[in-house]
Amino acid sequence: MNDLVNPKDLLPFLHHITQEAGKRVLSYHRGDFAVERKDTSEKGIDIVTDADRASEELILGEIAKAFPEHDILTEETLTERSGAPWLWLVDPLDGTVNFAHGYPHFSISIALTYNGDLTAGMVYDPLRKESFHAFQNQGTFLNGKAVAVSKARTLQTSIVATGFPYDRAYSEDNNVKEFTQVVTRVQGIRRGGSAALDLAYVAGGRLDGFWELRLKPWDQGAGMLLVQEAGGRVSDGTGRPTHIRTLSIVATNGLIHNELVTVLSRNS
Ligand code: IPD
Ligand code: CA
Ligand code: CA
Repeated sequence: MNDLVNPKDLLPFLHHITQEAGKRVLSYHRGDFAVERKDTSEKGIDIVTDADRASEELILGEIAKAFPEHDILTEETLTERSGAPWLWLVDPLDGTVNFAHGYPHFSISIALTYNGDLTAGMVYDPLRKESFHAFQNQGTFLNGKAVAVSKARTLQTSIVATGFPYDRAYSEDNNVKEFTQVVTRVQGIRRGGSAALDLAYVAGGRLDGFWELRLKPWDQGAGMLLVQEAGGRVSDGTGRPTHIRTLSIVATNGLIHNELVTVLSRNS
C-alpha cells in the first residue's frame, strides 16, 4: 500500500485477520492453555496466555506479508520500527484476564494510523461474532450496519464503564477514587474487562460513557476512532482533545462528556 491508498479499501483485510485471529483465540477457549505472569513482582497480576500469542503471531504475519513497509506496535512482541508513516496498533486479545478465567467477554483490536492520525479501526468479539469498524470520516459500523452513540443527557440516566490498571495494588493512581465519585451518580456502572469492547459499546450506544487510566495505544486506538466516527466525543481526563498515547481517556456520547469529566476531577 502506498500513501495514495484509501484506508477504507482495507475492510476485507481487516475482516480476514480479525476473523482468523478470533478462530485461533476460540480454539483455546475453555481448553488447556499456558498462562504466564508478565508482572513477576510480589503483587503482579498481569498475564499472557497461549491464545494471546497465537492470535498475535497470525496478525503480525498477515500485516507483514501484505504491508512489509508498515510499522507495527503490538502488545506481546517488541517489533522493530522503521519510522514509517503507517503504524498498526494490535491488541491480539483484549480481555486476557476474562479469557483466562473462561469469562465470555474479550476481543481483538486493530487500528491503523497515518502520521499519528487514526485512519482505520476494528474491534471483533469472536464469541458474539460482532465486528465493529470505522474509517476516518466514514462512520462506524457493527457487522456492516451503521451505528451511533446514545442519547442519554445526564449521568443519572447513564450506564458507564471503566477499568483498573494492572498495577493497581501498588500504584496510588489506580482509578479507585474516580470510581468512587462516579458510582454514586450514574444509573449503572460496569467493569467489562475489555477496554476495546467498552469503547465499541460506547460507539454502538450500549454504554453512554467510559473512562480509564494508562491504557496503551493498542487498547484504545481502534475504539477511539469507533467512538468519534459514531458521533461521540473522546478526550483526556481533563476534557482536552487527545491522541492514541493519552494516559487518561474519557469517551462518551458527547452529551454527558462535561458532566463526567467534572465528576472525575473530584477525585479526592
Ligand atoms: C486490559 C483490558 C482491561 C483494562 C486493562 C487492559 P488486556 O487489556 O482492556 O479492560 O482495564 O487496563 O490492560 O491486558 O486484557 O489486553
Ligand atoms: Ca488490552
Ligand atoms: Ca491484550
